[in-house]
Amino acid sequence: MAAGTATPLLLLLSVLCFVGASRAANVTYDHRAVVIDGVRRVVVSGSIHYPRSTPDLTLPWRRRWCLQMWPGLIQKAKDGGLDVIETYVFWDIHEPYDFEGRKDLVRFVKAVANAGLYVHLRIGPYVCAEWNYGGFPVWLHFVPGIKFRTDNAAFKAEMQRFTEKVVDTMKGAGLYASQGGPIILSQIENEYGNVDSSYGAAGKAYMRWAAGMAVSLDTGVPWVMCQQSDAPDPLINTCNGFYCDQFTPNSKSKPKMWTENWSGWFLSFGGAVPYRPTEDLAFAVARFYQRGGTFQNYYMYHGGTNFGRSTGGPFIATSYDYDAPIDEYGMVRQPKWGHLRDVHKAIKLCEPALVAAEPSYSSLGQNTEATVYQAPSVCAAFLANIDAQSDKTVKFNGNMYKLPAWSVSILPDCKNVVLNTAQINSQVTTSEMRSLRSSTQDSDDSSITPELATAGWSYAIEPVGITKENALTRPGLMEQINTTADASDFLWYSTSIIVKGDEPYLNGSQSNLLINSLGHVLQVYINGKLAGSAKGSASSSLISLQTPVTLVPGKNKLDLLSTTVGLANYGAFFDLVGAGVTGPVKLSGPNGALDLSSTDWTYQIGLRGEDLHLYNPSEVSPEWVSDKAYPTNQPLIWYKTKFTAPAGDDPVAIDFTGMGKGEAWVNGQSIGRYWPTNLAPQSGCVNSCNYRGSYSSNKCLKKCGQPSQTLYHVPRSFLQPGSNDLVLFEQFGGDPRLISFTTRQTNSICAHISEMHPAQIDSWITPQQNAQRPGPSLRLECPREGQVISNIKFASFGTPSGTCGNYNHGECSSSQALAVVQEACVGMSNCSVSLSSKNFGNPCSGVTKSLVVEAACS
Ligand code: GAL
Repeated sequence: MAAGTATPLLLLLSVLCFVGASRAANVTYDHRAVVIDGVRRVVVSGSIHYPRSTPDLTLPWRRRWCLQMWPGLIQKAKDGGLDVIETYVFWDIHEPYDFEGRKDLVRFVKAVANAGLYVHLRIGPYVCAEWNYGGFPVWLHFVPGIKFRTDNAAFKAEMQRFTEKVVDTMKGAGLYASQGGPIILSQIENEYGNVDSSYGAAGKAYMRWAAGMAVSLDTGVPWVMCQQSDAPDPLINTCNGFYCDQFTPNSKSKPKMWTENWSGWFLSFGGAVPYRPTEDLAFAVARFYQRGGTFQNYYMYHGGTNFGRSTGGPFIATSYDYDAPIDEYGMVRQPKWGHLRDVHKAIKLCEPALVAAEPSYSSLGQNTEATVYQAPSVCAAFLANIDAQSDKTVKFNGNMYKLPAWSVSILPDCKNVVLNTAQINSQVTTSEMRSLRSSTQDSDDSSITPELATAGWSYAIEPVGITKENALTRPGLMEQINTTADASDFLWYSTSIIVKGDEPYLNGSQSNLLINSLGHVLQVYINGKLAGSAKGSASSSLISLQTPVTLVPGKNKLDLLSTTVGLANYGAFFDLVGAGVTGPVKLSGPNGALDLSSTDWTYQIGLRGEDLHLYNPSEVSPEWVSDKAYPTNQPLIWYKTKFTAPAGDDPVAIDFTGMGKGEAWVNGQSIGRYWPTNLAPQSGCVNSCNYRGSYSSNKCLKKCGQPSQTLYHVPRSFLQPGSNDLVLFEQFGGDPRLISFTTRQTNSICAHISEMHPAQIDSWITPQQNAQRPGPSLRLECPREGQVISNIKFASFGTPSGTCGNYNHGECSSSQALAVVQEACVGMSNCSVSLSSKNFGNPCSGVTKSLVVEAACS
């Protein structure tokens, strides 16, 4: 069905999916918490950035309307125990006016409201966020007299104008809590305190102005400034980091808030893949609430995808998965999502005490700490072992408690442990993006998945050097961003050299060419042939390329293709970092050198194929050649093919292994830059990361020596029934026959529960029922609706070892384990098995035993 025919259906769905506003709420704060309608609230929040996923309401043929990306993500966040969704507002995507599709901020905020959750709207409008230019539109750089993020009239006028526009748009749609909408908080600026000293007194003046400007917009809800220890009243200064338990706000009347708890870390092209262990993240969260915090936000709860050219950097990868509780494809990441859900439940059980009492701290011995929230009728306690090595046994209120190293136990009644952050009761799910091998050329190959049989590839050659009429010629080398205004990643620098034969920079016909560039990627062509290339990296984008070149008598053409890979987004004066060839550009030989830096250069912004909209399949272009013998492994080629979307609802990604570097479009929508040949360093990874001890962004890395990113998400809403178009621009050279489509497949669900674990948190009803609390149990649930557990691949009760997919029996092992688990689970969508001696007998006494299970669903 064509999108145009869907309008009445869409309207109906809008009505079904979007419920109306509720009554106005009064949002304030005091020294303990955000206060909603006079009630202090303990809040769990998570970041989901609207343009990093899709609203998915454009495809009427897709089933399960309200469960697709935005509503689905928000529902999973709600099921995971979140109260608030946080998003930045990305200025560059909204101006000139654009609030459509993935940019439909109002729709996103309403989708959150529909799920019954609140919104924290971080307007910035500087946002950092690994987003191109930190979210600033690049045209802002060209406003006469402008200086960013300081006491500059031109900048302040633009910042105020955009901030007002966002606030007015939200007010117009009735979205502030003061109007009955979901927005309970807003942020102005972003971590300015990290850099303001570089801006001197003018920086301080700007920060105070920003605060005053925000407050004057009269949203009816509080404003925050993150990482701004001197944020003026009434703005709340908040903390960002891997841990914020030691943070204190700058006034006794402000609550302790954590706006960015980094659930993992971002990926760079050329970097290894970061991940953050679940136990450590849970520890950080519990410590924060233990030490008086009442508002915590996961950055990110769903990271998503940097579509198009939205990545910052330079060198930020297209995937923004972030090892978040919901993965890039929108699927819950287990056990992270499930364990944090349990942590949130445990904290919520403590909420009556947390909002009623002040924390009281005491030491239980070295590296251990108890915090008690005692009010007349309620009591909650947190027991922490912050030792990175040793488990401890502590005495608290007359009872003994075992605390694993680097963990917090939560006691909603000051007596019973409902959760320990290092003891994961949630299941583990292992899944992979499995290849549907597509040989897009040899369609008679019987191994082809039928849906992917395609019509072969067409190609178009992107010419080397200047081909556009509007090219400009100037003496000297121009900075790239000032020249392109980021209209394209690409800038050609072109000149020519006349050779007589006796030049001092020549050795016969040879010379050495040196080119210095601010980055990010450089390719050098001599007389139309590639003579060398180089790239910078996330830690330094600088390039110094040296290559021997051969020149011919007469005129020689020198064409430099300089490419940006996302504009800088962080640091003082990040907007002025620049890119492109700075020089020198120099030829040298045995008897001298020729410096070309000040010669006349001709500049072309962007590619011819970009001007011709080759990425847009609906525009017919004579450039395309259909020939079975298309070129491979050559730079600067556009490729195009048709394909049928993989059947079903499973998330889809393209595996670009075999290609070099480029950008890809599905039905005209860019799925981002791909760069599978950019490899992570060989070293720095760990096989299994010890969660104990302070985490940092390079502590737990995987995929060393491998491509940083091979898989590129194609949201289902980019696909259509029948024929789809895939267009690539390949910059370095690759073989599109090697591209394959992949879909998400779950391999196994597993769980590993010890007798030391507390019971599943749902079994907690009231403190009065403590006496009947059950013991630990193992729970499994198939990830998809309609699935049942079809097979128990492994079960062991005793002292088993290993990880999901790789379990082994230990010396001690009950002979009943497999039969008991099969009996309880096979044929069920979910099941629960108690670790009782009734079930398993006692295969070895005096030893702490565990139950591990690996199961398959179908
Ligand atoms: C913070 C920043 C975020 C994001 C994060 C790293 O400093 O506020 O926007 O960039 O770092 O992912």
